Amino acid sequence: MTNWDVPELIDVPAIRDDLGALGVVEGSSPFPFPIKRVYFLYDVPAGAVRGSHAHKDLNQLIIAVSGTLKVQLDDGVTKTEYALESPAMGLVVPPGYWRTLSDFSAGSTAIVFASEEYTPSDYIRDYDEFLAWTKR
Ligand code: TYD
Repeated sequence: MTNWDVPELIDVPAIRDDLGALGVVEGSSPFPFPIKRVYFLYDVPAGAVRGSHAHKDLNQLIIAVSGTLKVQLDDGVTKTEYALESPAMGLVVPPGYWRTLSDFSAGSTAIVFASEEYTPSDYIRDYDEFLAWTKR
């Protein structure tokens, strides 16, 4: 059972047959929040590091639908790195984690399902501010 309070790599449901695979994110499966926004990252140059921020309330599911990337999640104490290497897996990212996305392979695309619309005030973009926020 996925606990959406902590990061976790989860399986993304897929229908696979002789013609390939069809991954599905719908209703509450596997993202148990109303999907208020979907965005995707592509054309990321070699060596680029994206993210470098945390969210106060946003829940996300990140899937490497093409290619591979790494996501480091930091709760203010422990940093854990996750390798996204298949559209059949997704990374659960709860609020309160400083995230860094790196090592995008050439031509990779990451899709992100989000529980909230884009809200600039939900971002913490300063690491020291993030550390203070985690200790509040
Ligand atoms: P940002 O969240 O910093 O991207 P990343 O974490 O992948 O490096 O967003 C980059 C820019 O895009 C920034 O100007 C905010 C804008 N943006 C939107 O307008 N809507 C969105 O849904 C997102 C995620 C970002």
